[in-house]
Amino acid sequence: MNMLLNPLFLLLVFSLHHVPMLIQGTDHDERKPYIVYMGELPGNGVSVVEGHHNLLFAAIGDDELARELKIHSYGKSFNGFVARLLPHEAQRLSAEESVVTVFKNTRRELHTTRSWDFLGMSRRVKRNFNIESNIIVGLLDTGIWIDCPSFSDKGYGPAPANWRGKCTKGANFTGCNNKVIGAKYFNLDNSDPVIGNPSPVDEDGHGTHTSSTAAGSPVKGASLFGIAKGTARGGVPSARIAMYKVCWTNSGCTDMDLLAAFDDAIADGVDVISVSIGGPSRNFFEDPIAIGAFHAMKKGILTSCSAGNDGPYTSTVENVAPWIMTVGATGIDREFRTVATLGNGEEFSGISINTFAPKKKMYPLISGGLAVNSSGDSYGNASACDYGTLSGDKVKGRIVYCLGSSDQDYTIKELGGAGTIMALDEKTDIAYTTLIPGTSVYVNVAKNIDLYINSTKNPQAVIQKTTTAKIPAPFIASFSSRGPQMLNRNILKPDIAAPGLDILAAYSKLATITGYPNDKRYDVFNIISGTSMACPHATAAAAYVKSFHPDWSPAAIKSALMTTATPMKINEVDAELASGSGQINPARAAHPGLVYDISMAAYIRFLCKEGYNGTDIGLITGGKKNFNCSSIRRALGTDGLNYPTMHTQLLIGNSSISAVFHRTVTHVGYGSSVYKAKVTSPKGLSIEVIPDTLQFSQLHEKHSFKVVVKVNMQEGTQILSALLEWNDSKHSVRSPILVFRSTEE
Ligand SMILES: *[C@@H]1O[C@H](CO)[C@@H](O)[C@H](O)[C@H]1NC(C)=O
Ligand SMILES: *[C@@H]1O[C@H](CO)[C@@H](O)[C@H](O)[C@H]1NC(C)=O
Ligand SMILES: *[C@@H]1O[C@H](CO)[C@@H](O)[C@H](O)[C@H]1NC(C)=O
Ligand SMILES: *[C@@H]1O[C@H](CO)[C@@H](O)[C@H](O)[C@H]1NC(C)=O
Ligand SMILES: *[C@@H]1O[C@H](CO)[C@@H](O)[C@H](O)[C@H]1NC(C)=O
Ligand SMILES: *[C@@H]1O[C@H](CO)[C@@H](O)[C@H](O)[C@H]1NC(C)=O
Ligand SMILES: *[C@@H]1O[C@H](CO)[C@@H](O)[C@H](O)[C@H]1NC(C)=O
Ligand SMILES: *[C@@H]1O[C@H](CO)[C@@H](O)[C@H](O)[C@H]1NC(C)=O
Repeated sequence: MNMLLNPLFLLLVFSLHHVPMLIQGTDHDERKPYIVYMGELPGNGVSVVEGHHNLLFAAIGDDELARELKIHSYGKSFNGFVARLLPHEAQRLSAEESVVTVFKNTRRELHTTRSWDFLGMSRRVKRNFNIESNIIVGLLDTGIWIDCPSFSDKGYGPAPANWRGKCTKGANFTGCNNKVIGAKYFNLDNSDPVIGNPSPVDEDGHGTHTSSTAAGSPVKGASLFGIAKGTARGGVPSARIAMYKVCWTNSGCTDMDLLAAFDDAIADGVDVISVSIGGPSRNFFEDPIAIGAFHAMKKGILTSCSAGNDGPYTSTVENVAPWIMTVGATGIDREFRTVATLGNGEEFSGISINTFAPKKKMYPLISGGLAVNSSGDSYGNASACDYGTLSGDKVKGRIVYCLGSSDQDYTIKELGGAGTIMALDEKTDIAYTTLIPGTSVYVNVAKNIDLYINSTKNPQAVIQKTTTAKIPAPFIASFSSRGPQMLNRNILKPDIAAPGLDILAAYSKLATITGYPNDKRYDVFNIISGTSMACPHATAAAAYVKSFHPDWSPAAIKSALMTTATPMKINEVDAELASGSGQINPARAAHPGLVYDISMAAYIRFLCKEGYNGTDIGLITGGKKNFNCSSIRRALGTDGLNYPTMHTQLLIGNSSISAVFHRTVTHVGYGSSVYKAKVTSPKGLSIEVIPDTLQFSQLHEKHSFKVVVKVNMQEGTQILSALLEWNDSKHSVRSPILVFRSTEE
């Protein structure tokens, strides 16, 4: 073994001496990591590493340098590698016949208990315990804090026999157990400065939260400092957890690490994969999550991903590949309310999570505008309590009224304030944990607090500890990213929604509950929000369905969840754009009646229709070497895929369009059934289902039908939504049909 080629040796050389001794020329700094994706593995157990080297050598022209510049070879579940390249070298590689895509390594971001009862899954719901305990949920996330009671392995037998994963020990992580059966970390780019504990430990809390939401053991009396007390549990509490740490506190989650985690997770034998991470949508085969999920799908593993937190704006949805289950966030029937009481007895109910019980009856109250530091040199807005604008003398010991945003508690805490009442420009649905006693009140109401301050000699107030209130639900969380997507304009995304607002679940003791280092509160539970929290709910629901139907394909499981979801129609014009089919209903999804399955051949047809090159399709699918797309015979219709929803988009200015959707359903109920189509559609949308009756006499029987949609949109209308329902009086198999007209070019 050549010492100079040992990666560890290289790391030491660079970090201790900063002398790039082994790098020739001056181009080291311009070299950037690129991922060279090569599709399916060659098969027959052929090692791919030498092939990677030969490609690199050909592109770079120097044998030794080629070895040095390669960062990692993928080769367990798909073929590819990552190397430090110059743009022209990347270009050269992308022209190689064996290469599908070459793309720059970019960074992605995290999309930051009662919820299971709320979804109609009580603790007594019917379960296949034996099969469920053999299900392994793989999560790509920030790691795991295994010492939470949610990860206790009391009563769990050894890992399922097919498990091939490992447990990497390290700083603050002493090992796995029979609940958390696998844990690894990925930090391939060792040129990055050291980024926290090199171990699967969770220093953020996010991965601990998502893991316990999916498959945590039940914990009685869980709460955040007494708030939201109840039993915390995962959706499939008997299942096992495998954590793949790919996100680091200071550097996010890189494409190359995400791909390495997929490469391992698929080979390790996980049953479902949960990814609460996102980034800008790119062509499928330049997007690490789409690539990883594709190869997972080929092995029968469904990947569930968060839709993003950029709502309520349209066209913000991420992770849109059709083989991914894309999950939006809903709110449950519980709101966190924090009341501020004024000296005159008036009460103002706001939204926040305030863990502090007041120590005094009343505190002096002041507004930011009146607490201004007149000798200050800041240009900020004192009424909004901007950093640097307030006088410490006036704030100390007082509750401060601030206009505008919900995050001034940090500033007020620094100045020694006793609390903060924040007046929000818009009504909010999301409760943030405050660093000091705090609440957020809608400004139209809160201005009376300002009036009280202005008209009272010694204004006073007190902020109570947060309590919970029951509210109508479900509803779509304001932050949840909306469709339509622009990559495949005929596939509706997100697919589905699940609770993601104010979710109580396990947390890491290495992170404070607000994430601020100047907070001193640590807890093994925390309440946080995001489509990140919705995703593991849907992952668990998929695992639950799989425990009843271990042989179902990822598409069949996804179809079952989608066609049985509860439509989100409460005051939402963009219900389908935000939630697809609606909110998951796992108990119903175990018995969907019919499923819309998608075979590999169907995905190939779809990729052809979308214009992907036949040579690349051959590489990706591991099928025919040069796949000939023009040899595809079947009519593909508008979307070309047997998707459980139907979607089409009109361009700006166009008012009419026709669309045809070809569909095939598989009977997964017992005995014979007659299904009748029922369509609910608004004015402007004419829908015909041909045929409108389907007769099944045996399990797995398939029948095809087509849906012909004619749109005539009125001026000013942007969205028309309809519903197709197949009903045999025992099952209702629902598919939303959504037409969207864009308002931009
Ligand atoms: C984490 O590890 C560090 C160093 O090994 C140790 O000082 C610290 O106490 C550990 N933290 C916890 C919460 O166990
Ligand atoms: C007011 O601002 C000045 C300049 O930033 C600062 O030096 C001073 O300490 C502030 N006064 C108070 C009472 O916070
Ligand atoms: C200060 O911020 C508030 C809240 O955003 C805003 O209403 C107000 O107009 C701002 N004042 C100035 C002087 O910019
Ligand atoms: C209270 O007084 C401040 C400072 O004079 C002023 O900016 C604000 O508009 C007043 N608020 C109300 C509700 O009258
Ligand atoms: C795919 O693209 C390559 C390079 O552009 C071309 O040589 C090849 O013929 C294409 N393959 C098919 C099947 O279209
Ligand atoms: C692809 O298929 C079409 C239709 O079957 C045929 O005409 C064409 O020659 C084929 N192309 C290649 C490169 O084999
Ligand atoms: C939209 O309208 C333009 C101009 O009238 C027309 O050329 C185009 O074919 C229409 N497209 C669709 C999809 O209807
Ligand atoms: C469809 O089936 C459900 C049972 O799942 C039944 O309750 C409902 O009334 C049926 N709807 C129609 C329109 O037939």
